Amino acid sequence: MKLAASLLSADFAHLARDVGRVEGAVHLLHLDVMDGHFVPNLTFGPPVANALRPHTRLPFAIHLMIERPAHYAPRFKVGPEDSITFHVEAADPPEEALKVIRALGCRVGISSRPRTPLEHLFPYLGAVDLVLVMSVEPGFGGQAFLPEALDRIRALRRAIGGRGVEIAVDGGIGPENVRAVVEAGADVIVAGSAIFGKTDPAAAARELWARATKGS
Ligand code: DX5
Ligand code: ZN
Repeated sequence: MKLAASLLSADFAHLARDVGRVEGAVHLLHLDVMDGHFVPNLTFGPPVANALRPHTRLPFAIHLMIERPAHYAPRFKVGPEDSITFHVEAADPPEEALKVIRALGCRVGISSRPRTPLEHLFPYLGAVDLVLVMSVEPGFGGQAFLPEALDRIRALRRAIGGRGVEIAVDGGIGPENVRAVVEAGADVIVAGSAIFGKTDPAAAARELWARATKGS
């Protein structure tokens, strides 16, 4: 299991500093890229992600909440440890996004909005390395966890079967519900406000990890 810190809740004026604060306490850095079309919010894109790359050893998990993932994915500098995840509802056909991202030599993920039928992801389970289950409506940090995500995680786990596809869960996760998310079958926990929203992000990440792994 892995813990990812979502940069969305970091201080955008001090990204490298904030990443440095959690470097030893998390396994991945989750980067929310938003285009103001796919979701009603704008964040950052390849120039900011690429500028941050030399400042950390943490692998990047890039979450594209954009209409044109196939068009923009090649602008990210990524290696084999990094991943790029796109949404099945985006304007670019999923087959094209898959092919383009795979050719970059990084890991490939697919995601969906919380209310998109899970079956829409099934045709791609043999071609991806991870599925990102959204437990909030994509677009903003600090929202409440949607409890129906737990059933989606369990259903996805069954659909994945013996294939080595990771399940990451993103949105509204904190110390109070992280254990339930893990027990439902998550391999990767993404947390933004529960880490960077706290005065001591490293301590908050360690606490989250302790809760996530308690009893396992
Ligand atoms: C929401 C983003 C999430 C967000 C999670 O659209 O995809 O990654 O940063 O933030 P929290 O953990 O605060 O819900
Ligand atoms: Zn995200």
